[in-house]
Amino acid sequence: MDRLDGKVAIVTGAAAGIGEATARRFAAEGASVLLTDISEEGEAVAASIGAKAVFAQQDVTDEARWEEIIALALATWGRLDILVNNAGISMFGVVTNLSFAQWKRCISVDLDSVFLGTRAAIPAMRQSGGGSIINMSSMAGITGQRTLSAYCAAKGGVRFFSKAVALDCADAGDNIRVNSVHPGIIDTPIFRATTDDQRRSPVGPEPLSPDLLAGMVTPMKRAGRAEDIAAACAYLASDDAAFVTGTELIVDGGSCAA
Ligand SMILES: NC(=O)c1ccc[n+]([C@@H]2O[C@H](COP(=O)([O-])OP(=O)(O)OC[C@H]3O[C@@H](n4cnc5c(N)ncnc54)[C@H](O)[C@@H]3O)[C@@H](O)[C@H]2O)c1
Repeated sequence: MDRLDGKVAIVTGAAAGIGEATARRFAAEGASVLLTDISEEGEAVAASIGAKAVFAQQDVTDEARWEEIIALALATWGRLDILVNNAGISMFGVVTNLSFAQWKRCISVDLDSVFLGTRAAIPAMRQSGGGSIINMSSMAGITGQRTLSAYCAAKGGVRFFSKAVALDCADAGDNIRVNSVHPGIIDTPIFRATTDDQRRSPVGPEPLSPDLLAGMVTPMKRAGRAEDIAAACAYLASDDAAFVTGTELIVDGGSCAA
């Protein structure tokens, strides 16, 4: 459990859910972690992790703030090895009901932020001799999902953006690996908060409980845990994945297999 000893990581959207679990897992594996989130609740998460964790408030769509976040990691620990672009939002609605503002909001938080974070992190990782960039996509970046067109567009964009940057980094010989992670249905606050209306649309007229929906959509008959995704991130962050770049790691209980 010390695969990340001496490494420095930034995890966005780390106040809850997958980001929180990933920050905890990274610290448990020896990394120093800068947790960021638009929500100040990340402060308490960092405090509960202990001396290896620091929190900074960040809206991942704010271009200028990215430079400050990278500078903070360098000022605190002197290097940057890992970035998890995890912060994200869902955006439900059939396309004819989706406003342009909703579309742009989803693309901004889920895709633009990944560009901004990746671009800001690469120079610092090059100074540190390499790194691992992990971009949180979704099974919605592998297969189309009903009522999630903007989200699918963003998460599909994350998948192919990651591949293109992986090639640019390999060409540069900078030892930076770039991969995307594709969770299926994971039991986090974002999933629990979906409304009856959102849960009704994929399968029929009656709303389904989150557990029932997860059981129907997932071949393994349950929702995944945030820790399942954290474990995948820890692998990609570690030197166990030294020859892994430009690929997608699907962690979905078999959902994309069918
Ligand atoms: N839970 C799932 O079923 C599931 C499935 C596939 C993909 N994902 C992806 O995993 C990632 C994490 O999702 P989660 O389930 O942990 O969600 P979550 O809502 O539990 O956590 C997301 C975190 O991101 C933060 N955030 C939102 N907008 C932000 C912004 N503009 N700037 C900074 N932080 C912001 C939120 O405050 C929150 O703490 C997201 O990218 C999501 O799309 C989740």
